[in-house]
Amino acid sequence: MTTPDLAAIRQEAVDALGSAPTGAELRAAASAALGKRSPLAEAHRQLGSLDPDARKEAGRRLAEVRAELEALAERRGQELAAAERAAELDADRLDLTEVIPDAVPDRMGRGHHHPVSVTRRALEDTFVAMGFVVAEGPEIETDWYNFGALNMPPAHPARGMWDTFYLDLGEPESTVLRTHTSPVQIHLMEQALATGSLPIHAVMPGRCYRRDTPDARHLAVFHQIEGLVVDRSVTFADLAGTIETFTTAYFGSDIHARLRPAYFPFTEPSAEFEITCTLCRGAGCRTCSQTGWIELGGCGMVDPAVFDAVGIDSEEWQGFAFGFGIDRCVQMRHQIADMRLLTENDIRFARQF
Ligand code: PHE
Repeated sequence: MTTPDLAAIRQEAVDALGSAPTGAELRAAASAALGKRSPLAEAHRQLGSLDPDARKEAGRRLAEVRAELEALAERRGQELAAAERAAELDADRLDLTEVIPDAVPDRMGRGHHHPVSVTRRALEDTFVAMGFVVAEGPEIETDWYNFGALNMPPAHPARGMWDTFYLDLGEPESTVLRTHTSPVQIHLMEQALATGSLPIHAVMPGRCYRRDTPDARHLAVFHQIEGLVVDRSVTFADLAGTIETFTTAYFGSDIHARLRPAYFPFTEPSAEFEITCTLCRGAGCRTCSQTGWIELGGCGMVDPAVFDAVGIDSEEWQGFAFGFGIDRCVQMRHQIADMRLLTENDIRFARQF
């Protein structure tokens, strides 16, 4: 092989390796320049036909060129890898200085209380101003607290008023997700007896669960606030007055409350407690099923059987109780046509309250 031939082969390989734009093209160029079918390999095979001195000299030059080209391929490979890595990092980069364009400066990143939380606090404040204390109880209850102590022995037909979620815990159907906040009444009465702290004037807000299909007025996971007064000489007039006072204090003087006879196993007499539908102001609409009234909850005088269950002397003490939906209050207070909006977690919705 002549020197100019080798020089040309070398130059061509240097150009191809040095300018390969990607790793894949570099590998192809390296295989063309250094592989078994490369001109360099061919030149090597032809060494045998040279006489010994020329063979030695040509072999040395071939080895030099091969080493140079291998080093060049290696260097180019490192350059390309570094460039590819830099491009990758650049693509992954997070701009932590980014300013969210529609953030109002004083709200930026501060989040927002859910309207149910806001309403729960407002309701608590209303009742605290009327002389009630705020108490809480567990969301998981035994059958006895959720039903038995509330005058519903096993298989009592009134249990069907609540579509119940049972937990797979202990005896079958012995543990429930509470279907109402009324079991907290039982906890409070037990506590008051144990600590000698009767009378009781308390409200008990919290989450409740029912195996219901959500619709415009119902959620399967919802909130109630329970009220319990246990004192001497408490009458139904005190109950009616408390509900009326609360309704006007919370909803405004143009919203009225009415009580309709009803049945609850734990109160006698019992009533359903309704307020003027705030969406149509009584004219009738989809949300109130055209009645002009929205049911908020139930109430009544504590049934002596409940006092017996906890061991309070029903000759000495009387009481009234009520329980109603906090979500329903949110709906009425803010005229939300469909309650399911409360669980959709859309910040644009929550921000309005
Ligand atoms: N716990 C009843 C319910 O969820 C409401 C209620 C509470 C009724 C207190 C009477 C007294 O339906």
